[in-house]
Amino acid sequence: MHNYDLMKKYILSTLAFVATVFAQAGNPSAVISIQADQPKQIISKHIYGHFAEHLGRCIYDGFWVDSSMQVEKDGRIRMDVVKALRDISIPNLRWPGGCYADEYQWRDGIGKPENRPITVNSNWGGVTEDNSFGTDEFMKLCDLLGCEPYLAANMGTGTPKDLRDWIEYLNYEGDSRLTQMRRENGHADAYGVSFFGIGNESWGCGGNMTPEYYADQYRQFQCYARNYSGHNIKKIASGANAGDFNWTEVCMKNIPRDCMWGLSLHYYTIPSGDWSKKGSSTEFDEAEYFNTMKNTLYMETLLDGHSAIMDRYDPGRSVALVVDEWGIWTDVIPETNPGFLYQQNSMRDALIAGINLNLFNNHSERVRMANLAQAINVLQSLVLTDNEKMILTPTYYIFKMYKVHHDANWLQSTVTCSDYAFGDKTIPSISVSSSKDANGKVHVSITNIDPHNAISTSVFLNGIDVANASGQIITSSNYTDCNTFDNPNKIGIKPFNDFKVSKGSIVLNMPPLSVITIEIE
Ligand code: AHR
Repeated sequence: MHNYDLMKKYILSTLAFVATVFAQAGNPSAVISIQADQPKQIISKHIYGHFAEHLGRCIYDGFWVDSSMQVEKDGRIRMDVVKALRDISIPNLRWPGGCYADEYQWRDGIGKPENRPITVNSNWGGVTEDNSFGTDEFMKLCDLLGCEPYLAANMGTGTPKDLRDWIEYLNYEGDSRLTQMRRENGHADAYGVSFFGIGNESWGCGGNMTPEYYADQYRQFQCYARNYSGHNIKKIASGANAGDFNWTEVCMKNIPRDCMWGLSLHYYTIPSGDWSKKGSSTEFDEAEYFNTMKNTLYMETLLDGHSAIMDRYDPGRSVALVVDEWGIWTDVIPETNPGFLYQQNSMRDALIAGINLNLFNNHSERVRMANLAQAINVLQSLVLTDNEKMILTPTYYIFKMYKVHHDANWLQSTVTCSDYAFGDKTIPSISVSSSKDANGKVHVSITNIDPHNAISTSVFLNGIDVANASGQIITSSNYTDCNTFDNPNKIGIKPFNDFKVSKGSIVLNMPPLSVITIEIE
């Protein structure tokens, strides 16, 4: 190590020490050190993916509306929603479930709408499903969104033949009975879908399987997920429920590497930690806020734990960890259908999104795809609609601000910060991730979850001189603050200038409850 490096190390550890002493003396502070001259792996844009299930008002009365609705539409697809999602460069959309996927018969959703069968959505409210939104409508939606489709295939009640036929319908360019059907349905060209999940939550709603049984079934099903006409399938196995590390262990042991592009993980932040009484999305006190933040930070333990198991079987990291369901899950808004999972989205949700996206960026060597649950009107949504009205949630604005990390090179960062304490419990107040884009611009995203204290944060950018910096912020005075149909713009992105730049560093004042992205040239 050169003397210069040793000196840098010494200075940084001294600063970290000073931050700790300051914090102990009651002056909340943080020191972030970024290896700005050592760009590492690409942060896949697919980490910023989304999810649309046939659930509540996500598809029907969300993306897909009644022909009589007075909004701009393409067919029955709602264009204000499409434009909002295009603005955040949505990279992929997962469909049709969720639990719904393991009862979905894809043939019910093709052909003339009047000939499609009426079925029942037995997972979500037992409502009637008219199948008017099916495969070709979903592909049209992805085309309008400019994103990649991510299809979830039915293993629970489907067969390997259903899976193979669906892929032939979608991807085969030659002549066959199925491609003739696709042509009759108006699509001469193959779609060229690549992301395909095989089963969903197969440990639960997707068949209540043991990991051993699932791994065997997966091996059989994936055999028939064929690569037609040069359109190669990226096969994604249904992975663990939160901390079920044994599921990951068995899948990694029993499924050959070349049969699996990715292995998934599902983890929801439950405010109370109790699934039977999760907590409200709009009315919660500081105890519940603290608990929610603590529960969302558990994602780091999960990413570390599942990645460590995967590393043992796959040291070259060829298999991606795909967090294809994440976000906060609260009780539904009172007087709404309990099976529709409709909840509000507050400043708390924005912080949850910022923390999780920082974690995914920081684990992007293994995490190469993730999908927030869900895009519209369900769980931690980006968009809420009420007939013709549409609002964008605080979570939406986080995805907009974090767009700069899509396909940028990850920069390693370390943080030493004061804790956010509640009662006798503490959690770190600050989280960070950073990247360098193709134009050499560095972006640093920082969250401060402390609701009471601004945090003086020193950011050291090792190896670069800061010429110019600019900032954006998402913040609000209360964690319960929301955008509502009456007050749709309470929380959004604003310019942020409360920082000072010196040669290789920036000192910024992070307000309580804030998410900031600094751009550095
Ligand atoms: O996102 C809602 C549900 O949560 C999904 O259908 C299921 O996969 C999970 O349990």
